[in-house]
Formats: sequence, structure tokens, C-alpha cells
Amino acid sequence: MKLQINDKAYEVQADADTPLLWVIRDELGLTGTKYGCGLAQCGACSVMVDGAVVRSCVTPIEGMAGRKITTIEAITEDDVGKKVVDAWVKHQVPQCGYCQSGQVMAATALLKQVKQPTNEQIAAAMVNLCRCGTYNAISAAVHDLAGIAVAHSSAVASQTVKPTEHTLNKTVAAATVAVAGIGTVAAIHWKKSQKSKAEGDES
Ligand code: FES
Ligand code: FES
Repeated sequence: MKLQINDKAYEVQADADTPLLWVIRDELGLTGTKYGCGLAQCGACSVMVDGAVVRSCVTPIEGMAGRKITTIEAITEDDVGKKVVDAWVKHQVPQCGYCQSGQVMAATALLKQVKQPTNEQIAAAMVNLCRCGTYNAISAAVHDLAGIAVAHSSAVASQTVKPTEHTLNKTVAAATVAVAGIGTVAAIHWKKSQKSKAEGDES
């Protein structure tokens, strides 16, 4: 199957039902897009497809042929994406950085669709989870880009961005799922290694 990613054509070997995230990271080595929950909950895996934000962990590659896929590696080649990255730097948004490629994707997709989003539109679009709690800085950066006056991040914080109880619950739920997922993967690896060991002992 042919995929168009960051304005390059790639011939990929994966099965049609493989999630886009696996192809991007494992087959093509574009590791800026992250795996968080694998359940379309956290947004760490966000990429843009035809300018709209998409959770790549639950998006099979079938249906992606002929679409324009953009990952964080090429975001500064997009005029809006470049402005978002500049604002992220200006407001010193990232902490550990793990969620930030997804956050930048969400902000870029929003600002490509609506040049000057309202508070409500920003709140509706910027729903990705951040375990470091950079919500205030993200809000300051997006409000700045939207031309909504911000005196400083803490002022915005007091107005808009305290994570709601719902968001916090989602964060805890996603973290729990992620930990469970990591445990499952570790168990599979352990079983595989035990199996190879046993086969090695037999031969
Ligand atoms: S990894 Fe895709 S939404 Fe969390
Ligand atoms: S900056 Fe660490 S998870 Fe968001």
C-alpha cells in the first residue's frame, strides 16, 4: 500500500488493518508520534490527515491511501504548524515532552480550521492528556496564537485551564490503561523469550 506522509510517498508492507501509528513508528521510523493509551483516549498519537487531527493508534492504514498525512517531523513545514511550534517555545510549554507532538498537532489542526478560535473552541479542541500538567502553558500558547490577550500564563490559568474533574479522571483512567498495556506487552515478550529459551534447550 502507498501512503503519502510529510509530502513523501512510502510503499508500506503492513496489513491493511494495521494501525497507522505502528506503520509510522515501527515501519517508517518516524518516532516523534507517541504511543500512550492505544485507545483513542490520550491523544499522544495524534497526526493530521488532510488537515484534521486523527488518533493514529486506532486508525487502520486501509483508507489512508491517497490522503495527506502529516506527522510532527514535518510540522514546521506547515505555516500554521511553524507558528504553533514557535508559540510552544515562547510559552515554554513542554515538560517531559511525551504528549507534546500530539498537543502541537491538535493546536495546528484547530488553527488551520479556525484562524481565531474562541475560548470554547479552544477548550473543545485541546483535549489531549498531559501527565505533566502543562495545560496552563498550552492554553496560554493557543490563546496567544488565537489573538486572545494573555497577560501571562498564570492569568490564563485562573480563567480557563484548570483540568476539570472529568479530565483528571480521564488522565487517571488512561494512565491505568497504559500501565495495563505495558504489563501485557511485557508479559507477551516474557512468554516469547521463555518459548525461545525452551526451544533452544530442546535443540
Ligand atoms: S495512544 Fe492514541 S489516543 Fe492514546
Ligand atoms: S509534557 Fe509530559 S506528558 Fe505532557
